[in-house]
Amino acid sequence: MIKKKITRIFGRKIYHYLKVDSTNKIAFHLAQKGEAEGTAVVADEQSKGEGRRGSWWFSPQGGLWLSLILRPSLNFSQIPLLNILGAIAVAETVEPLLTHRSVFIYWPNDIMIDEKKVGGVMCKSSPEKGKLSFVIMGIGVNLNVKEFPPQLQKEATSLSLEEGYSISRKLFLELLLRKLEELYTCSNGSWLPILEKARILFPLLGKPVKIQTPQEEWLGYPIDIDGKGNLIVRLESGVQRVINAETSINLVR
Ligand code: BTN
Repeated sequence: MIKKKITRIFGRKIYHYLKVDSTNKIAFHLAQKGEAEGTAVVADEQSKGEGRRGSWWFSPQGGLWLSLILRPSLNFSQIPLLNILGAIAVAETVEPLLTHRSVFIYWPNDIMIDEKKVGGVMCKSSPEKGKLSFVIMGIGVNLNVKEFPPQLQKEATSLSLEEGYSISRKLFLELLLRKLEELYTCSNGSWLPILEKARILFPLLGKPVKIQTPQEEWLGYPIDIDGKGNLIVRLESGVQRVINAETSINLVR
């Protein structure tokens, strides 16, 4: 059988493991040794999955745990754009699989179905002589995860729990890599189409939110996403602030 190639760069080489501590760690080492852009690392299970802000990422069998090596011509300040690109790619891959529901992105890159998180994206980079040498895009999608630990049950879900059937991980991976490559290739010209998509998928624009940093808390309204992938928020006082992915925001009900 002739296998039709659906991507040019992403997933040209895929390292598949049964169980690892973290696919991010493996991809990081591979990238340090010079592995090419587009190489993917996938595992059936992770014992120490990494989440954003040093959190733990629940990664049992059934999910898609993927790390992708990127070598973009960007500077460090533009990495948030890659996070947004990853979240859009996941959202656009999930969307056609849903019946009667929509998928949204909560700041900065949580992929949500009905207020429950179905996936997340994080980008880790490595400076080399002050330049961005590579970025590891880590993506977790709770595809067919059947059960979550008690502390996650209120906030996490999987596609199979929502839709009632299992989704082929191989097919989902192919579709996701295709989407990622399409968005990544088009972003070389301009990030405007990515930002346009983000504005549609990000439901909290214009809504009242609580903004929390480890030090402070404010009320305000997110009004836009800027050219570097940061969120512009107008505070109650009228002052505008630019917030990055380290800052959490929550809808005020
Ligand atoms: C988040 O906190 O929302 C981002 C989670 C990213 C999890 C993925 S799973 C595959 C890759 N390997 C890891 O250790 N983490 C990322």
